[in-house]
Formats: sequence, C-alpha cells, structure tokens
Amino acid sequence: MTTCEATAETAGGERCFTVEVADGVATLLLDVPGQGVNTLSAEVGDEFDRLLTRLEQDASVKAIVLASGKREGFVAGAKIEMIRAVASAAEAEALSRRAQAGFDRLERFHKPVVAAIHGACLGGGLEWAMACHYRVAAGDPKTTLGLPEVQLGLVPGAGGTQRLPRLIGIAAALDLMLAGKTVKARKALKLGLVDEAVPPPLLRQVAVARARALASGELRRRRPAGHQARGVERVQQALLEDNPVGRSVLFSQARQQLLRKTHGQYPAPERLLEAVRHGYERGFQAGLALEAKAFGELAVSDPSRRLVEIFFATTALKKDTGVDDAAVRARPVERVGVLGGGLMGSGIAYVTVAAGLPVRLRERDAAACAKALASVGAVLDERVKRKALDRLERLATARLLTTTSGWEGLGTVDLLVEAVFEDLALKRELLAAFEQVNPRGIFATNTSSIPIADIARGARRPEAVIGMHYFSPVHRMPLLEIIPSAATAPEVIATAVALGQRQGKTVIRVGDGPGFYVNRILGPYMAEAAWLLAEGAAIEDLDGALTGYGFPVGPIALLDEVGIDVGEKVSKILHAAFGERMRPPEALHAVVAAGRLGRKSGKGFYTYDGGKKRVDETVYDLLPGGRRRRRLARPEMAERLSLALCNEAARALGDGIVRSARDGDVGAVFGIGFPPFRGGPFRALDAMGAAAAVDALSRLRDRHGPRFEPAPLLVEQARGGGRFHL
Ligand code: NAI
Repeated sequence: MTTCEATAETAGGERCFTVEVADGVATLLLDVPGQGVNTLSAEVGDEFDRLLTRLEQDASVKAIVLASGKREGFVAGAKIEMIRAVASAAEAEALSRRAQAGFDRLERFHKPVVAAIHGACLGGGLEWAMACHYRVAAGDPKTTLGLPEVQLGLVPGAGGTQRLPRLIGIAAALDLMLAGKTVKARKALKLGLVDEAVPPPLLRQVAVARARALASGELRRRRPAGHQARGVERVQQALLEDNPVGRSVLFSQARQQLLRKTHGQYPAPERLLEAVRHGYERGFQAGLALEAKAFGELAVSDPSRRLVEIFFATTALKKDTGVDDAAVRARPVERVGVLGGGLMGSGIAYVTVAAGLPVRLRERDAAACAKALASVGAVLDERVKRKALDRLERLATARLLTTTSGWEGLGTVDLLVEAVFEDLALKRELLAAFEQVNPRGIFATNTSSIPIADIARGARRPEAVIGMHYFSPVHRMPLLEIIPSAATAPEVIATAVALGQRQGKTVIRVGDGPGFYVNRILGPYMAEAAWLLAEGAAIEDLDGALTGYGFPVGPIALLDEVGIDVGEKVSKILHAAFGERMRPPEALHAVVAAGRLGRKSGKGFYTYDGGKKRVDETVYDLLPGGRRRRRLARPEMAERLSLALCNEAARALGDGIVRSARDGDVGAVFGIGFPPFRGGPFRALDAMGAAAAVDALSRLRDRHGPRFEPAPLLVEQARGGGRFHL
C-alpha cells in the first residue's frame, strides 16, 4: 500500500517535502518549490525536523529514505542568499549550530535513514547525506559529491569537517575539503563516501530495500572512519591516522603544504584544518563547536564576501543571453564546424563534443587532421583516467568528432569556429569560402587580436560574423569572450553566447576593440612587469610579489608559459592601439632575439631542465642592470602591477568594452586569475575607494610616468564619491 500525504508547510506556504510510505519505509522527497535545484535553508530544516518528529512517533514507519524530487540532483548546498544575508559572525555561527543540531539528531535517529543520491550532492547536501546511516548513489557521471565550501571562503558548517574524516579517513577528507574538490560516484564508492553506486533507474528501489534491511537487522550499519582502505593504504592509514603522533605529523604536513599553495591569503582552508584537528584532539562535539565558530567568522569576512559575489556574478552570467532584448532567441545549434585543429582548434573541438554536439573539423591535410584527433583523444583519455568518463562514454564522445581537409560536411553546420593562424588575409579567405558552401551558418572567429569588423569587412553576411575568444588551454580555462562587431545580428550574439554556455564556459560579451577586454587589461600589467625587470627587479622577487598578492602565477612565469615571443607580439599591437601607456621597455626584445621563447623552447626567464623550473641567471645578461639585481619592495611591485591592471579595467568600462563592473570582474578572475578573494579589479577599486585609488595612481604617475594617469571613469567616481558596484 502506498500513501501520499501532505507535510508541514514552509514559511512561504509551500511544501518542500512530500512523503510516500510503502511497507514500513517512508520516502522523503525534497523538492524545494520555485528552484531548479534543491538548496538547504532554515525553512527546509524546520520542515524536516517536524517530519522527523512525526516519523519518530509513527509506529508503522520502520525506516526512512531521503531523496530528491528534482531531476537535476540531490542538494546543491546551503542557500547562499541565506549566508549572504547574515549581519554578524554570531548570527552565522548560530546558523551553523542549528544545522549541526539538526544533523546530529538525524544521525542519532533510532530508525535507519538511507540517502538516495543523484546529481549534485554538495556542501550542506553532502553533510546531510553523511548524517544518514547509509548512502546509495546513482552511478552515472552526473553524480558529484563534495564539500566545496572553501571555494566560497567558508568551511563546511553543518558537521562536514567532523563527519567526512571519520567516514573516509583524514588524509582523503583533507584532500577533498581543502581544495573544495568534488568526486563522481565511482570514486565516492572507492573512498567509502557512499556505500553503493547503482544504475540510476534502480536508485530509489535499492535505497528502499537497504532501508528495510537495516530496519530488520539483515544489514548492519557500516563502521565509519575510513576503514575502506586496503593493503598499503590501510597500513599507511593505521600508521598515520589511528594514533595521535601519526595524526600530528599528518596535520602539520597538510598545513605546510597548504601554506605553500595559499601564501596565507585564504583563511578558510586553514580554519578547516584546525577544526578537523581539534575534533580529533578534543572530540567530535568540540570539533563541531570550532567548525561553527570558524564558519561564523568566515561568513562575514571580506574574502568570503568577495568569493560569494563572484559566485553570484557567474550564476547570473549563466542566464545572461548576451543581448538586452528579451525577445531575441538563440538559433538552435545542432552541428558545429571548426577550422584549424592546432592548439586552440582542437581544444574548441573537445569542449564542443564534450557538450554532446557533433563537430566537423577542417585541417590542411590528413596528417594535421590526425594530429587534431589525437589531441582531442588525449584530453578524453585524461578524463577516463580521472574517472570522469567511462570507456563507453569516451567512445561515444570521440565519435562525435570527424575531420576533413576539404569542405565536405561544413555546408550544414549551424556555427563554425575559425582557429587558423593569426593572419587577416587567411581568415578572410576562409570566411569567403565558408559563405560559398554554407548559406546560413554563423562564422565565429577565435582571433586574439584582429578586430572582428576587419574580418567581416567584405563578407556577404557580416551580420553572421562574430568573435568567440577562448583561452588556452581551452578545456581548462573557464572564460569565453564573445565579441560582436557593429554589424553582428543580436540573434547571432545570443547563439554564440548559448553555445559557449553549453560548452561549460562563463561567457562575457565584450566590445570589438584591440585586445578585447582580458588581453587589454593584461597589457599594462605585463608591461609594468617588464619595466620592473628593466629597473633591476629580481625575477623570483617579482613573481613572488604577485603570487603574494594572490595571482596563481607571477607575471614572468606567465610570460614563459604563454611564450615571450607571443607576449611581445601582443604588446606591440596594444602599444600601437593605445600608445604610451602600453609601451613596453626595449628590454624584452633582447630576450626574444636571443631565442628564449619560454617553456616551449625549454628556456625563457626560467629553465626547465629535468622538469625542474628555476630562474635562469644568464637571462639577466640580456637585461639592464645585468646580474646585480636590486631589492625592490614586494608590496610596491604588487601595487604597481595590480593598479595598472585595475586602472585599465576602469578605462575599458568607460569605453564600453565591458558592459558592467560585474562582467569586468568575472573576466579578470576567470581569464587572468586575478585573485578571486579580491573579487576582481572593480571590487578591488571599490575596496580601496576611488579617491584613494586616484591618489595612488597619481603618485605612481609622478614617479614613473604618464602610463599611470588615472582612468577618466575612476576620476569621475572619486569626484562624486561613487563606486563601481552599488
Ligand atoms: P596553431 O598554430 O596551434 O593552430 C593553427 C592551425 O590552423 C594549424 O594546425 C594549421 O594547420 C591550421 N590551418 C592553417 N591554415 C588552415 C586552413 N586553410 N584550413 C584549415 N586549417 C588551417 O595556432 P593556435 O594557437 O591554435 O591559434 C589559432 C588562433 O587562435 C589564432 O587566431 C590565435 O590568435 C588564436 N588564439 C590563440 C590563443 C593561444 O593561446 N594560442 C588564445 C586565443 C586565441
């Protein structure tokens, strides 16, 4: 017999849970109304609590299954708006305490509770599932589990820092939590994070069967504490984790590793580590108390606020069509073409087939086609190795990519991305050829420096020409710039934006000017690095100054990665377009002329012998000042570079190159690695205050020259007391 009954109501008057009772097992389906995905809030918590009380008293119910009624997944985490709304650390701590108490009660609930997990099971969602007595996951790639709170500058606040290490072992738990990593069902099973991974259609059925077996005693609750490990891993675990001395070694090693990565800039992982350690030294409840305290303090801290803002900005961008007119619709895209299968073309082909779209790629000859296929294959293999894809899925994805050295198959593609050499005549010639064979498709160019209007000039259908500027390596870099020319049709813009979003990119629409947005703001930043080298700065000092500021790599290391020749080429283009403020010192040229191109030539500012990266002292012979470097203060170097970048961002916004401060922040964070905890250049300027920023820039201008002239928009803000973000 199955009964469906109504449950208590949330504050909004809507119901979050439905309950189905069948043969002694109550299945609780969470389906938070008005949201595509479930998130946890005080309302959901209250309703769940009331339900538990009822089910506790209902003698006909022997066991419970907790599942999601959403197609998209289990629970994506706590409702972030709720965290953003807290006004004080005490308020946030109380929120955490309440969630902890709810999950404690669940864990101690005398009737067995089984979590049936599909799709995203993240943050509070996983903390909820971990408080259950058994976990069954749908074994498909859509199932992802993890505690990614540190990415928002937080620690898990509902018992995650205590339950995860006890469930899967300390080392494995730290590995997941400190980086905010997520794992798929298969890996989760291996780690002991879930008890079973089953074919998705059987999820509910298996969960109910396990709930019943737990209630009858046929199945026993698993002993937690990561005892899934076997063989060498088990020995390691016993040596390190099962005794206080070993644990102390493990925690201090983890801390050292962490500090090397975060440079002390990200407080959340450090607090997380403390909470885990405290829980082992003083017990579970003490660990919970420290977790809540850390959660409270972090929730109102500047880094977390900035990270949450970036999160909301990217969420908003996912829904942005790129055009203001809501009536404009993207064209359906069913087949995609790619021209050129080099570094960028093969990357673009990969992200497209990974999104499930068939791709026809054109290269110059059969050998180049084979090379492109091999590059895409290598990325797919890497995903198989990481267990993000299984062999069958790999095969099915690889089959979506076909190649040609002619034009066959390109006449019917809805959109073609061109990624051949950076040569205007070649790009134009290929556009004309495409228009010959394809009467309606969109021609998107991945040019990094040629104005889209120049490529479109002379086209039969300039309204169907647009820029889609990806970043290298395409499968890793999250940003995509969409660049319409003045002639591009709104429908074409919406189509390119929608395709980028399907490819998993964070898409910003930018204006058709030199360097578009990201490379334009990178220009003065890199030029300033070159000026500092010319002034005698030491390479490791300079790189250290900027990683200390929060960039993932320093500017000189970045230049080595990108290619010093490429950097020089871009800087010439930007200098020609913007004049004095983008003029790089002559010094760089000598380095390129000496055949030092960076990592690709095995030698740049660094050497890479035996895979070890070291500053190459001999490069100083090519720079002013030679090998005797000057000690320049790191904060000053960081200020010069970061302000040069932020000032240019303000100019770009003033010129209409980015549509908003939000887009400008997202572009800098995802395109360049501008420190996310600073929220992007506009958030950084707001934090300084426009007047202080203008003062600092004026001081730098007086000392170093007109390249530091404050941007007109910034000066305007300073005068009117304005901000970029309201
Ligand atoms: P690449 O040299 O690795 O690849 C270019 C490919 O185009 C080569 O494989 C070549 O065989 C092929 N090709 C040349 N003529 C062709 C034709 N007529 N038909 C078909 N294929 C042809 O160059 P990469 O780095 O992939 O750059 C491609 C484009 O992407 C350039 O416009 C570049 O400015 C732009 N770009 C490059 C970035 C980077 O980091 N490398 C970043 C963003 C954009």
